[in-house]
Amino acid sequence: MNTDNPKIKFRVVNNISFEIKKYINAYQTGDVYIFVDQNTKRECLPVLSGDMKFPDKNIIEIKSGENNKSMDTAIFMWDYLSRNGVKRNSLVINIGGGMLCDLGAFVASTIKRGIKYINVPTTLLAMIDAAIGGKAGLNFNGLKNEIGLIQQPEDVIIDVRFLKTLNKENLLSGLGEMLKYGLIFDAEQWNRLISFNLDELDYKQLEGLINESALIKKYFVEKDPFEKDIRKALNFGHTFGHAFESYSIKTRLPLLHGKAIAYGMICESYLSNKEAGLSSASFDSICSFIINTFGKPAISKNNFKQYLDLMKYDKKNTDNKINCTLIPEIGQFSINNCFSSNEILKALDFLVKI
Ligand SMILES: NC(=O)c1ccc[n+]([C@@H]2O[C@H](COP(=O)([O-])OP(=O)(O)OC[C@H]3O[C@@H](n4cnc5c(N)ncnc54)[C@H](O)[C@@H]3O)[C@@H](O)[C@H]2O)c1
Ligand SMILES: [Zn+2]
Repeated sequence: MNTDNPKIKFRVVNNISFEIKKYINAYQTGDVYIFVDQNTKRECLPVLSGDMKFPDKNIIEIKSGENNKSMDTAIFMWDYLSRNGVKRNSLVINIGGGMLCDLGAFVASTIKRGIKYINVPTTLLAMIDAAIGGKAGLNFNGLKNEIGLIQQPEDVIIDVRFLKTLNKENLLSGLGEMLKYGLIFDAEQWNRLISFNLDELDYKQLEGLINESALIKKYFVEKDPFEKDIRKALNFGHTFGHAFESYSIKTRLPLLHGKAIAYGMICESYLSNKEAGLSSASFDSICSFIINTFGKPAISKNNFKQYLDLMKYDKKNTDNKINCTLIPEIGQFSINNCFSSNEILKALDFLVKI
């Protein structure tokens, strides 16, 4: 395993076709494979292709939706590549949100013992998070990202124009993850985000916020690519959030990732307020912004046991203790805080009563 700290690449560009064309020209015709899902094929491929023509056989379309981030879909993708003569020096371009980027990265990084891949994120969440940092994988046995690896992409190319076709729900999901960066690392970014108007998008301003968020992600991944230490800061909101999300996958009542994380951040801010010194004023402002923006959570006391079990199975935890990242104040983080089931239940209780 290469243990050198990677240089994380990402670029915010305003002519995505030009950037992609450079890659296409550097490869033999037929050696570039493009992964899209149903929606990104329709909405994003035309933005990107412009005057470029990709051979149909090199465009691999999968079904959209978190339920399809599965071994079955990976098998379909491996099978397709293998039957169509993929080579060790072929290139994969992932055009899609976090689901497509995670899965496409995993498939590319495992076929032929790994071929190069590029991420072209098309959702807000993927632009600021999922496409950056090299985490690749799929859901398995009802658990989020249970199978996977860390392999850095060759390039991550961000063009905010893709967001013009993204619905409000998915914009909100991206916002949830962006809020996290402000909360763990940059109080000014938090203030900018809570005053940003998502209903009338100012794309120039959004581009700046995306760039800032992606830089924060880059900072943590470069310092700690294998999540042994400070990269765990990025898990703020995710111990609870992943449980809400995993449960929603099981019950087929989808709860988008960033929204699940936003509710997770309420629970973990609650623990931060109790245990890590987060002031009550900051705690109140976090809760009220999240509830005003995302609405009240559809989370029921009847499911507490299931949430707790999911948290215990999370890869981040050991010895039956549940590990959370906390925030001593807005803009600061503290990793490796362990909690008993009882303390976790109190945080869940706070959320359902909010
Ligand atoms: N690898 C990481 O570090 C990391 C970090 C955060 C999240 N994730 C993963 O990311 C996934 C969630 O990603 P997501 O929120 O981007 O969801 P997603 O990829 O499922 O995309 C959401 C929906 O938007 C559609 N879509 C994508 N781009 C579009 C566009 N420009 N216009 C119209 N529709 C478009 C998709 O087809 C899909 O229906 C989860 O699986 C999560 O685990 C990974
Ligand atoms: Zn996340």
